[in-house]
Amino acid sequence: MPYAHITGWGISVPEPVLTNDDLAKMVETNDEWIRERTGIRERHIAREDQFTSTLAVEAAIKALQVANLAPTEIDLIIVTSSSPEYIFPATACLVQDQIGATKAGAFDLLAACSGFIYATNMAAQSIRSGSIKNALVIGSETLSRFVNWKDRSTCILFGDGAGAFVLQASDKPGGVLSAVMHSDGSGADSLTLLGGGARHPATETTVAEGKHYVQMDGKAVFRFATRVMGTATKEALELANMKLEEVDWIIPHQANFRIIETAAKYLKLPLDKFIINVDRYGNTSTASIPIAAVEAFEKGKLKSGNKVVFVGFGAGLTWGALVAEWSGPIPAKKQVHPEQYRLFARLRSWLLRALRFIEGLLSRREL
Ligand code: ACO
Repeated sequence: MPYAHITGWGISVPEPVLTNDDLAKMVETNDEWIRERTGIRERHIAREDQFTSTLAVEAAIKALQVANLAPTEIDLIIVTSSSPEYIFPATACLVQDQIGATKAGAFDLLAACSGFIYATNMAAQSIRSGSIKNALVIGSETLSRFVNWKDRSTCILFGDGAGAFVLQASDKPGGVLSAVMHSDGSGADSLTLLGGGARHPATETTVAEGKHYVQMDGKAVFRFATRVMGTATKEALELANMKLEEVDWIIPHQANFRIIETAAKYLKLPLDKFIINVDRYGNTSTASIPIAAVEAFEKGKLKSGNKVVFVGFGAGLTWGALVAEWSGPIPAKKQVHPEQYRLFARLRSWLLRALRFIEGLLSRREL
């Protein structure tokens, strides 16, 4: 049975920064309150011309560059997002088209902030089963578009960004070692975005009622999160036949510093075993785990061969953890340039659209 290795990684974070002081000019809040209750100092907010797919594509290209893998070699693309570009089509299909992943299947996975763990596990299982060789997993968010900037209990929390992993099959032991995924829909109403779905299709009333904004029972989510972070970590380690002492890094979902602190206490681990960057990005939902992992790698903390636990929770309610050995690129003979495929992808997309148009004209004439 092949192993599923993490061989490439990349992130994309929009440049504009919104600080706590900026927020204090928009709602009744202040830097001290936000830092004390959440650990957040600032977050990045997408420009008007940046979308969930824009950030996803940038992160994906970087991940493919690290893996030295051509987009045409990808078998499967999973985009996980709490702020997809549309209800449908899937953001994954937009990414597939824009990067030129000509043979890839593509779909979106919705598990809120636990999405990146779920998606990485799904991709790894597809590789382990032998049905595919190369997968691209992307967590991408423009949650700033769904935040009520007048609601101080939610608008201080979220930020935009994307992170991507390439997973590849190899006979060498390692890569994704175990994962657990959980859900509890009885807590569905703790964290919601109700408007625009089939239950509350967009109308003037739904807009007036603010149903298109994130709504959250912060205290309920906080209690749930502190319960599950530690237990999921232990469960995933048990499945991998590993002890806590063997773990080099815990990379948690970055929602609130206090939640991470509580998980560290529960696991009886020092905080310096945890990768934490919530102070500079806020909660980027499905993108937070890969952004934290890539930053840790770039800072020289996370190294090839390190054993890591990714652990997260989110709306649904959902939660999960995944244990992996951080691999690194599979040595290749030939250097590929995934970024160069974007021009080819644009041309291909344009040609396919033109063909579809001509086909439409011809079939009309036949009728
Ligand atoms: N600035 C100043 N005061 C504020 C703010 C603010 N931004 N927000 C709330 N307050 C006030 C409240 O009105 C309240 O005042 P009162 O005591 O006079 O009524 C007081 O501060 C305390 O408010 P709480 O809501 O009790 O504050 P709490 O300590 O619970 O912190 C927080 C709120 C930060 C939201 C916390 O509950 C939390 O982090 N919860 C988890 C949220 C989370 O992780 N969500 C993401 C899940 S992942 C996903 O799927 C997207």
